[in-house]
Amino acid sequence: MEPEELALAIKRLTEWAEQHTPEPEPELRERLRAHFGADPTELPIVTRPLQAWDRPNFQVAIDAFLDGRASELVGLASMPGYEIGLAELAGAGRWYDSAASIRAPEHVTVPLGEDESIACVQLGLWLVGDESERLAVMLASSSGAIGEELALEVMANDRGRAEEVLAELWRLMNERNVYRGRVLELRERHFHSDEGAPLTVRSLPAIAREQIVLPAGILERIERTTFGMSRHAERLRASGRHMRRGLLLHGPPGVGKTLTAMYLATQMPDRTVVLLTGQGLGTVTTSVDLATALAPAIVILEDVDLVAMERSYEPTNAILFELLNAMDGLDADRDVLFVLTTNAPQRIEPALAARPGRIDEAVELPLPDADGRRRLLALYGEGLELTLDGGADELIEDLAGSSPAFIRELLRRSALIAAEEPGDGPLRVGERQLRDALAQLRSGAGELARALLGDGDGDGAPDDD
Ligand SMILES: Nc1ncnc2c1ncn2[C@@H]1O[C@H](COP(=O)(O)OP(=O)(O)OP(=O)(O)O)[C@@H](O)[C@H]1O
Ligand SMILES: [Mg+2]
Repeated sequence: MEPEELALAIKRLTEWAEQHTPEPEPELRERLRAHFGADPTELPIVTRPLQAWDRPNFQVAIDAFLDGRASELVGLASMPGYEIGLAELAGAGRWYDSAASIRAPEHVTVPLGEDESIACVQLGLWLVGDESERLAVMLASSSGAIGEELALEVMANDRGRAEEVLAELWRLMNERNVYRGRVLELRERHFHSDEGAPLTVRSLPAIAREQIVLPAGILERIERTTFGMSRHAERLRASGRHMRRGLLLHGPPGVGKTLTAMYLATQMPDRTVVLLTGQGLGTVTTSVDLATALAPAIVILEDVDLVAMERSYEPTNAILFELLNAMDGLDADRDVLFVLTTNAPQRIEPALAARPGRIDEAVELPLPDADGRRRLLALYGEGLELTLDGGADELIEDLAGSSPAFIRELLRRSALIAAEEPGDGPLRVGERQLRDALAQLRSGAGELARALLGDGDGDGAPDDD
């Protein structure tokens, strides 16, 4: 044999050897094989996608599920960008082997409001069971085009059992949902943005009834449509009444639409509150689903005309339509209250007219009448030494057309003026300080404040009532 021939033969032998040497079994597949005592590629897997914010819900569910069961948590590390699920762990091939590896379980802390949080396994495989039954549960994660995508997966010896366990975990997730009763806000997810969780737990200011000044009867009407129905929920439901109701609060800027919505949320602390804002564009359907799942709930959609406009320049109110449609599809016995606010009701009228029956009550919050303005001066003058003597009526007349927000700002400025004057003790606010503050607010420099807060014509024209 020539040396060249020999060299070629050795090269071929090496190639043959490379192709025929058995691959060492990937570590994770080996673990699954040992756990089930069977070839994991042949075991059924069932999967259910989870929302990106469901990690804490999965955590409480798996904790409850494992109570009293033998189990082992296998922490996983995954290569960014790869999808790692049970099928990949069970499957053959080196590619997956390098994309997922075993390591100490890593936890992420998910905030649930200002001073609460929950530690959750980031990515993990739970090997569950004893001699009588073997299961594998996985919290799978992959980075999708719009951020992280989670899935719940179960492997068992037969498909029926895998489905049962998946259903049981899903039931536990709903039953123990950590978001129930909280104030939630969804953000639209954008392609390739790495913003954190699209669901935020917020806190709202507690608003007492005394903080709201409205003409007699208005707040009562709002209360009747909202907690009136809540109180009688059981009986209404029993007699087949639909539990979905919509309340539209409309009126000029600064009259208390947002304030009233916050008051309603304060008064019904057991309800889950889902806030929809301009940032939540495109989340209407998800928000309504969330509210339905976490009912009893309130969905608050603020400045619905603006939100509607952002998406389309025609007055078709895409978002509002989407909302009305979502309300349509809602189970009649789900107790979800919708509170919409706007200061341009005429812009949303066509949408509402085309979908009658979704909004049960449209309540206008008017600018305060003379009595209202007097009460507002007293309310926002609290803590000040407010002396108005003879000039009170005239000032109240002058404030015709001003919003409550404007009157609040007026008192804030008056207090500042008073603070700059010599003396100590409680701030003394009299007619002079109020007049100076009013002049400031109505001068050129105050124009923006006036527009933002709502100060009618501001010319002291005759009272409107
Ligand atoms: N009816 C009211 N009674 C007491 N205070 C009020 C009232 N309306 C407004 N205010 C005060 O003005 C602030 C701003 O009002 P709010 O945000 O509720 O107005 P809005 O009607 O929602 O206005 P916009 O149309 O600009 O959203 C409130 O936080 C509150 O301090
Ligand atoms: Mg508002």
